[in-house]
Amino acid sequence: MKKLDLTIHGGRVVTDSSDCRADIGIAAGKIAAIEDKLERGDRAIDAHGKLVLPGGIDSHCHVEQLSGMGILCADDWYSATVSAAHGGTTTIIPFAAQHRGQSVAEVAHAYAELAKAKSILDYSYHLIISDPTPRALNEELPELIRSGITSFKVYMTYEKLKLDDAQLLDVFAVAAREGALPMVHAENNDVITWITRHLLAAGHTAPKYHAVCHDPAAENEATNRAISLAGLLDTPVLIVHVSTKGAAQAIHAARTLGAPVFGETCPHYVLLTADNLDLPGVEGAKYCCSPPPRDPESQQAIWEALSIQSLSVVSSDHAPYRYDESGKLPYGDKTSFKQIANGLPGLELRMPLLFSEGVLKGKISLEQFVALTSTNHARLYGLHPRKGTLAVGADADIAIWDPDRKLTVRAAELHDKVGYSPYEGMQLTGWPVTVISRGEVIVEDGETRAKAGRGQFIARGVPEPLRNARPIRAGAGFLRKLFASSVSN
Ligand code: URP
Ligand code: ZN
Ligand code: ZN
Repeated sequence: MKKLDLTIHGGRVVTDSSDCRADIGIAAGKIAAIEDKLERGDRAIDAHGKLVLPGGIDSHCHVEQLSGMGILCADDWYSATVSAAHGGTTTIIPFAAQHRGQSVAEVAHAYAELAKAKSILDYSYHLIISDPTPRALNEELPELIRSGITSFKVYMTYEKLKLDDAQLLDVFAVAAREGALPMVHAENNDVITWITRHLLAAGHTAPKYHAVCHDPAAENEATNRAISLAGLLDTPVLIVHVSTKGAAQAIHAARTLGAPVFGETCPHYVLLTADNLDLPGVEGAKYCCSPPPRDPESQQAIWEALSIQSLSVVSSDHAPYRYDESGKLPYGDKTSFKQIANGLPGLELRMPLLFSEGVLKGKISLEQFVALTSTNHARLYGLHPRKGTLAVGADADIAIWDPDRKLTVRAAELHDKVGYSPYEGMQLTGWPVTVISRGEVIVEDGETRAKAGRGQFIARGVPEPLRNARPIRAGAGFLRKLFASSVSN
């Protein structure tokens, strides 16, 4: 047995498929042993009474990114990764966002520099494609995919980001051909724009109307359309931030038929409702995100979809905008629902919320919690088995949880720079008390023990849904070949 740098003793070690008492030994940043009893390493942590879980992976968060509306996130790579780490997350995958007219490659390289200087966590990033030019499709994306950026997000709404159906097909075809997973923000833009026009004409400007214009029908229609378009090429697709029963059912139906369709949701879709937007003045802006929180029936449907695994991952969709003119409210208290910066903070509380409200309330099992917050992200985005599990040879990314720790959410005690929390005052049980990244203790006793820039870029492999050989639907095979020999222009 090699010399162990760090050992963790007596904890309940849980993965997505196992749950046992064991000691863990770590050497050179990797898990070197998982056994009943290990000798103490150079440093030993007593984990009796604690849960020892894989560090979380947050595969949907916005960090140091310019939004479609041109607003810069309040969190940079340092504050975002510190905040994520305190909540038990050890890897993040935010977005390098191409805005129209920009080169995807230049955007990606500039973003990589920001991350390298500041991240305390290991990371990768997805691309956001808003301008799928022939150069982007034929040269830049294949090259970036080969360098380990094996996923990208496309939008069906937001005037400055949205792609039309032909453009979606162009991007899906590149993903299928080169081995990347497309992520889709599925809301029908015309439905939202049409309702908005009528609301504004009638003088309805308050934040609560954000939830009215982003009607569930817009999400349901776009989800079905995205699934159909991916089905045309028979390529895997992941629908992000699913909030409605209809969208969850569409994903479930596709999966039942064997289609490689995956879904993500976020804590706010099981914990908040549209009523949260209905506050005096513009206070409801704190809860405006797209899609918006829905109603108790939708919450129930999303919990159900998580428990039957028709939704595969829970991400934060951390989109950090302060409740002031730099963020949420560009026109102060005169800001209409249409002008509010979209998005909620959530990096730090993603796992504690899901643990307290999901595991402890019996909605999901502990193993499902691990799958939904870590392992499935690793599998879907090409990080497994290096990340997302506790196994000999994996990176020693570990969160030691005190399942009995009680706390009240206070924005002032969180580590992001948003300045408010949608969950202010909520009582939670369970917290990650020690967080380890590649064998280094980075959070302990509520303190950050890591330096900016220690995080490493992880070149990702081919996402599992694209690796598993499946027979391709006959017509789809012909269309893919056609695309491979003549790329659109
Ligand atoms: O409202 C949200 N979700 N804002 C962040 C951007 C996005 O669409 O994910
Ligand atoms: Zn989105
Ligand atoms: Zn997002």
